[in-house]
Amino acid sequence: MIDKHLHSLVQKMTLEEKVAQLIQLATPFYEASKDRGQITGPMVEMGITEDIVTSSGSVLGASGAQEVINIQKHHLQNNRLGIPLLFMADIVHGYKTIFPVPLAIGCSWDLELAEESARIAAKEAAVSGVHVTFAPMVDLVRDPRWGRVMETTGEDPHLNSEFARAFVRGFQGNDLKNQTDRVAACVKHFAAYGAPEGGRDYNTVNMSERQLRESYLPAYKAALDEGCEMVMTAFNTVDGVPASGNKWLMRDLLREEWNFEGVLISDWGAVKELIPHGVAEDEKEAAYKALTAGVDIEMMTACYVNHLKDLINEGEISEAVVDESVLRILRLKDRLGLFDAPFRGADVEAEREIVLSNENRRAARELAAKSCVLLKNEGFLPLDRSQKVAVIGPFAQNGDILGPWSWAGSKEQSVQVLDGLRNKLDASSIYSAEGCGIETITEAQLKDALDTASRADVIVLALGEHSDMSGEAGCRADIRLPKVQLELISHLKQLGKPMAAVLFNGRPLDLHGVIDQVDAVLEAWYPGTEGGAAIADLLYGDVNPSAKLTMSFPYSVGQVPVYYNKFNTGRPKDAPDAQERYVSQYLDIPNDPLLPFGFGLSYTTFSYHEASLSSQALTVGEPINLSVTVENTGQAAGEEIVQLYIRDVAGEVVRPLKELKAFKKIFLQPGEKKRIDFAITEEQLRYYHSDLSYHSDPGKFIAFVGPNSQEGIALPFRLNK
Ligand code: IFM
Repeated sequence: MIDKHLHSLVQKMTLEEKVAQLIQLATPFYEASKDRGQITGPMVEMGITEDIVTSSGSVLGASGAQEVINIQKHHLQNNRLGIPLLFMADIVHGYKTIFPVPLAIGCSWDLELAEESARIAAKEAAVSGVHVTFAPMVDLVRDPRWGRVMETTGEDPHLNSEFARAFVRGFQGNDLKNQTDRVAACVKHFAAYGAPEGGRDYNTVNMSERQLRESYLPAYKAALDEGCEMVMTAFNTVDGVPASGNKWLMRDLLREEWNFEGVLISDWGAVKELIPHGVAEDEKEAAYKALTAGVDIEMMTACYVNHLKDLINEGEISEAVVDESVLRILRLKDRLGLFDAPFRGADVEAEREIVLSNENRRAARELAAKSCVLLKNEGFLPLDRSQKVAVIGPFAQNGDILGPWSWAGSKEQSVQVLDGLRNKLDASSIYSAEGCGIETITEAQLKDALDTASRADVIVLALGEHSDMSGEAGCRADIRLPKVQLELISHLKQLGKPMAAVLFNGRPLDLHGVIDQVDAVLEAWYPGTEGGAAIADLLYGDVNPSAKLTMSFPYSVGQVPVYYNKFNTGRPKDAPDAQERYVSQYLDIPNDPLLPFGFGLSYTTFSYHEASLSSQALTVGEPINLSVTVENTGQAAGEEIVQLYIRDVAGEVVRPLKELKAFKKIFLQPGEKKRIDFAITEEQLRYYHSDLSYHSDPGKFIAFVGPNSQEGIALPFRLNK
C-alpha cells in the first residue's frame, strides 16, 4: 500500500479505533483463540471491552497456524476498516526446534550459524503465523546473578553488536513483504536492562551517559543499523527515569539522533509500572508519560485505551501524536504485506513439514556442539568407546535442557544426554542413575548413584540449574550449583573413578565444589532440542569443542560484577611497584575471574607465534596490519577463535585494559598453520570523551592477539594525527 493510503486510513479511523491500535493483548482476549475465557476476569478489571478487542492492533503469544488464522479471520469479519492484526511472540532461540540459549550461541563466536539459527526460527514461526519476534535481546551483561544473562550474547559491546546484526539478518531477511518465511525483529530491552543493581531483575540502573553510550548502547544501534523493525523498552530506570517513560531515550536518542522510524513497544505492563516506579500518580499520568516519551504500543496494560481519549479531549496530548504511532504500526503491517495477505506465512499443512524438520534439527545439533565450552580437561576427554560409562545426575534425562523462552519447544521431542549416548554406544556400556533432584536428595537416590557408578569405568555427571532458576525474574544471590548436587559430586569422588561434569545452566556459576573435584567440565548451558546428541558428539570426540566464553566466570559471587574490559585503578595489584597492602585487591580471593572472557579448551592445542605489525604508526585513513601465525600443535583437527584486543594506554578519560576489536574463527588440521591478518583502523580507536564527543586521540596503544582475553602477544603501536 502506498503511504498516502495509510495516511487516509488513519483519517478514516475514529479516535477509539486509533487508540485501540496501540494496545497489545494476549490471545485469551480473542474470541477465536484456543484459550479464550481464561481472561474474562482481568478483561473486565482492565476495562477492556469487546469493542477494544475488535479494534485492537496486535496480539501477543499466539501459537500455531490454525489459531492465528482463526483469530485473524474472526477479527477481519468484525473490524470496521478491515485492519489486520499483527501477531507477535518471543521466538528467542527457536520456535519448536530449540537452539541453544543466546549466551551459548554467543560462545560459538559463529555469526553465520547464529544467523542461520534465527533464519530457521523465523521460518518455523512464520509458517505458524507469527509476524514479529521479540528478539534479539542484546542487553550487555556483567552480573551473573541476573537471571536474564542467558538471553544475551554476553559482556562485550563489539561481540554483542556483531551477533545483534546476525540475528536481525536471520530473522528478517531483506524483504519482509515477499519473504513470508521471515519475521520482523524487535530488539530489546531499550536500554541497559542488563545492568540492574545487585543483579536483581527490574531493579534500578544507574550509570553515566558516557558509559551507556560506550558499552550498553552499541548493540541496540547495531540491530537498528541492520534494519531491525521494532524496539522494546526496558523495565528499569535509566538515570532516574523509567525507560518506558523516558523521553530522552526514546524521542531524543532513538528517534532524533538515530533516526529510528519503526515501532516502539513497551515491555509487558511497563507503562502501568510507571506508577510503582513513582513517576506517575495514576494510569492516566502513566499513559501521558509513556506516549509523550514515545511508546507506540502498550503491552498488556490498558492505560492508553482507558485514558488517551480524555487526555486528547482535555488538550493534554495532541491527536497528531496518536496518529503518528498508529501510522508507524500500519506501516509495519504494510511492510509485512498484511493488508494483501492477512494470514501471511501461516499454513497448517506446511507447518507440519517445516516445524521440527530433520534439517532444522541438524542445524540445532551443529550449533549446540559449537556452543558448549570445555572448561577443564585433565587428559580425560574425549571418552573411549570401550569404557563403561555411568551417567549420573538430574539432567541425565529430565528434559529440562531447552532453557527459558522455549515455550513452543517440546521436552518430549528433545534429545537428552542419555539418549545422545545411547545413540552412540552399545546399551550394555551405559548405566544411569538420577543421583539427586535439582535441589533435593534422598538416601535411596544416593545409594543408587554410588552402586551404578561403581559398575562403570568412568562417570559423566549431568548437573545444573532448573531452567526457572534463570530467565526473567530468575535471579540468584548464590550462584553455586544447588548444595545437593555438590554433595553428590563429593560422594562419587570417593569412588576414585575419573569424572566429567556436564553442566546445564543459564549463567556463569561459581564452580567451586565442581571444577576442583572432577577431571573435566563441559559447560553445556541449555543446549536445546538436540542438546543430548551434541553433548555425546563432544564427549566422544566426534566433534572437537571450539566454543569460548563470552561472559567471565567469577571466582566467587563476591567479585561480581567481574568482566574483562575493566578499567585499571591508580593502585593496580599487578604493578611492578605495588605495595603489599595498599593496592586494589580482595584479601580473601583473587581479583581475576576463575575463567576469563574468551576462554575455552579444545581436544587439540594451538600456538601463536611470529606476531607482527605492518607498521608501528597508524594514521587516519591508513590502517595497519597485524599478522600472526596460528598453529595446531596437537593431534586432533579443530577450530580456534583468534581474538584481537586493543588497549589505549592514555586517554582523555580512563580506558579499558583491553577491548575486543575483531576475531576470526579458523579450522586447522593437526600440524597445520595459518597466517591470520587483522586490519587495525583509526575508527577502532575512537571512544566517548568527557564531553561525549566520539573520536580517537593520538598516542600509544597496545594490540594483543591471542586465544582469550588474558593470554596474548602484545604489540605496541602509535596513532599519529
Ligand atoms: O518479550 C518479553 C520481554 O522480554 C519480557 N517481558 C514479556 C515480554 C513479552 O513476552
